[in-house]
Parts: sequence; C-alpha cells; structure tokens
Amino acid sequence: MTVSTKDDKRATTPNGLDSHDVAGQVVEERQLLVASNRGPVTFSQRADGSFSARQGSGGLVTAVSAVLQGQQAIWIAAAMTAGDRTRAAAAEEAGETLITPHGSGSRFKLRFVLPTTEAYNQYYNEISNPLLWFLQHYLWDTPRSPDITHKTWEAWREGYVTVNRMFAEEIIRACDGLDTEPVIMLQDYHLYLCGGMIREMRPQAIIQHFIHIPWPDPDYWRLLPAEMRRAICEGMLGCDIIGFQTPDHARSFLYTCEAYVPDVGVSYGDGTVTWQGRTIKVAHYPISIDTEAVRRTAHSQEARAYERYLPTYFNEFTILRIDRAEPSKNIVRGFNAFDRFLEAHPEYKNRVNFIAVTQPSRMDVEEYRDYLDDMSATVGRINAKYANVETGWQPITIIMGESYPRVLAAMRWYDVLLVNSIIDGMNLVAKEGALVNERSGVIILSEGAGAALQLGEHCLMVSPADVEGTAEAIHQALTMPFSERQRRGRALRELVEHEDVREWFRDQLADIGALVQSRQSQ
Ligand code: G6P
Repeated sequence: MTVSTKDDKRATTPNGLDSHDVAGQVVEERQLLVASNRGPVTFSQRADGSFSARQGSGGLVTAVSAVLQGQQAIWIAAAMTAGDRTRAAAAEEAGETLITPHGSGSRFKLRFVLPTTEAYNQYYNEISNPLLWFLQHYLWDTPRSPDITHKTWEAWREGYVTVNRMFAEEIIRACDGLDTEPVIMLQDYHLYLCGGMIREMRPQAIIQHFIHIPWPDPDYWRLLPAEMRRAICEGMLGCDIIGFQTPDHARSFLYTCEAYVPDVGVSYGDGTVTWQGRTIKVAHYPISIDTEAVRRTAHSQEARAYERYLPTYFNEFTILRIDRAEPSKNIVRGFNAFDRFLEAHPEYKNRVNFIAVTQPSRMDVEEYRDYLDDMSATVGRINAKYANVETGWQPITIIMGESYPRVLAAMRWYDVLLVNSIIDGMNLVAKEGALVNERSGVIILSEGAGAALQLGEHCLMVSPADVEGTAEAIHQALTMPFSERQRRGRALRELVEHEDVREWFRDQLADIGALVQSRQSQ
C-alpha cells in the first residue's frame, strides 16, 4: 500500500484505498452499489415512533460493513423484519429514497427491497436456506432428501425468482440518474438470478458477484432440476466478474458451467467463461477480518466485563467452539469427538472444559430446529456420562446467545479452538481466534474450511467426519509442548495480521478497475 502524507495529492480513503491505484480510482469515479439479502442493520420502532437500529449479524454483514465504512456506497438489502418494513415506509412517506443506517458515523446509505412476507418466506426459508445452503454445504442425506416437489417449484417461481427480480429492479432504479455507470457488487447465494436480470435491462452495467459460501461439484448440483441449476449458472454469467473464497470453489463453478450451460466456452487456465459474446472472469478472493476492529472489540469495556464471569467456565484446559447453531458447523460430531477423547484419556476428567458459544439461527427452518435439539441431547448425554457430583465438574457447557464482545473475550483464553465444519466458505472464527488468543492456543481446523488453505499449515487438521481423528487431535493439542504452541500461535497471528479484510475488498476493486479500463480502451 502506498503511504500518503498530508501534502500528498493522493487522497487515501478511510479504507486505505489510494486514488492512484486502480482500486482507489474505481471508488473515486464511480458509485458503489452493494446488494445483499441481509442488510447492515435491522430496525425496530420505539413506542414514541422513532427507530433504533441494531447491527446485523454474520460474516457477510460484518465484512461488508467494515469495508464500506467511509465509502459513499449505497447498500440495497431486503426488509427482513416488521421494523425494517416500517422504517422503509416511513422513508417513503418522507420522500427519502435512502436511509442512513447508523447516524453520522457511516457514509453509506441503505435502500430496502420490500417483498411480501409470503414471497420472502418462499425465497429465504424454502429456497435460499434449506435448498441452496444445504446443497452448497453437502448437507443432504441424499437417499432421503431433498424432494423437489411442486411446492419447491412454487417457492422458486413465486419466491426466489420474484425477490431476485425485485432486487434487480431496485438496483436499476439506483443506477438511473447517475452520470457514470456505477459498480454493482452482489453478495451471496440469495441473489444468483440478479446479475442476469440486470444485464437484460442494462447491457452496459458493471456487475460483480461474490459468493461467500462453497461451490460444490457439478455432480452434486445434479440434485437440482436442470432448469433451476441452469438458471442459476446463467444468472451468474450475467455478471462481469464472479468471485469465490478459494481456487477450488472457483474451479468447481467453471466445471458446473461447462456441464450445464449450453454453448459456453470455459478456459481453466485464464479462469474465464465466454458466453453469449461476453467474457466473464471467475476468480478467488479469500475474505478476512477487520483486524483493528476485532482487536478493539476484544479489549473493549464490554468485553472486559465478561472477564469477570467467563473464567468460571474455564478449567486447567479449555476447549472452545463458536458457531451459529448450524448443521454445516458439525457441532454434534465435535461433542462426540470430545466424548471419545475423555473415554480414551480418562486422566483428563475434571481438568478440561469444553465451552460451546452458540447462536440459534434460522429457526424458521425445521432442519435447524432439529439440529439445535440434537446438540442439546448430545450435550445432555455426555454430561450425564461424565459429570462429577463431588467436584461439580461438568465437561460441556453451551452458552447461548449473540454477543460479539463476549465471543472475543472468550477467544482470548482458549487452549484449543475447535473448528470442524463439514465445509465452510472461509470460517472467520478461525481467523478471529488466531488474532486475539493470548494463551498460544491450538486451532483444530477442518480440511473443509476455506481458511485451511491459508492457516492449515499451523493448525491441527482434521477430516470433518473423523470422530476418532478429532479426538486424537484434541489429545495432541493438549499435550503439545508450549514452545510448539507458541510457534504455531505466532505464525497464525502474523498470517491474519497480513491479510486484513481490506485486502479482500481492494483486490476485487482492482479487478473491476482493470475491467473498466479494458472496456474504455475498446
Ligand atoms: C453466514 C455466511 C454468509 C451468509 C449468511 C447468511 O454468515 O457466511 O455467507 O450470507 O450466513 O446468514 P443469514 O443469517 O442472513 O441467513
């Protein structure tokens, strides 16, 4: 990054983007339009009619909010709650098209897409989460699920297609009236059809789409009917650039296009698809964390307040996991591995505590409710098997709820961080842990996590279904010489420090800038 001084004409934005490099020029010359299902905040209306805004949760919102601080971007998101809908209606009544989400601190503005509750439910709770998320994380028990029925088709047409169209139309409305063609940055699996719809209405649009989650092999996509999987690929090919977390996922996308999109040309060497006279770039941009903000929150007053009660959960050794209650996170197998570890190494009874900080998620979807039940039942069984009434020791504690400062406070003290997801786009918990842990804790990391590519060398790697192997990794971590723990901990921290989330954003903008320049020279 170029260092700028006060006298230097190179204006550096709060994101560290330099107006003299391609990425900096893009944001200086063009309006950024970011679209994602979940917005940066959710609104609630107070009794006096005013609104309060709470920051949205999840990796996507955290990362995009971090990179957009200081940008005059427009963020287009779905109204997910009644409060969001009322806030959008109030804005409309006041003749505002844009809402300022957090007050004076933010420079970006928000526009809401307002689907009916029914269409939104079909799009989010029937297609995006149980179908696309499950497919893209290999979560189906394929002899039994999924069943694609007339109900699925109805949810596809009346929910997924409809809401994607609403997003596309809202984005076009935001483009209209701008002097220069803006840069449209679509986020994730909720909006696969949007790129194609925008391209139809606005052929000159500059569209990039980043997929935060894995992209499975074409064989697995065959579980979706041909019409759906083709619509998804063709929708995405309406974009100019498609980004994934890892080279593997980018390659799988190229394979999938080759398998299911007629008349497509794929170049694996260049990472491009040619289709309908256009060339689409397919690349990978590993996401990361806002290291400064994570450190700040980990040492904030709120986090420090948790230091008073969190140690009551710790023991001579502490194993930690932090997840949404989500089947792809493989939480139940993690508990079973801990059970197996205690069976094989009874000398650790009374000496090691497993703390799972868990946030209930997507409770409108049956599979998620069932998974939360499975987690509780497994913890109940294991605790009943080992709990010691004399010492009061109980091997596993689940802490429920959503408090980011608490999560970071807990991360400072683990001996072992268990991240054994079945498959994960990236997994930012591993990166946060690597940055803030102060006990030279060991990370046990799934081979299926995107983060494995960057951090794997310094973690203990496990295959996600390997309960025995995970139990052995727990033992290896707890018996590792401290000097070895320190060496690994240092290497992990340095890696994360050098790959801030701003790099992720800057690399995408640089590729968009290069594309714009090559278009201008044609
Ligand atoms: C996680 C994933 C994101 C995804 C988000 C959706 O954070 O990393 O890729 O967009 O979940 O979660 P939501 O709670 O909005 O359904």
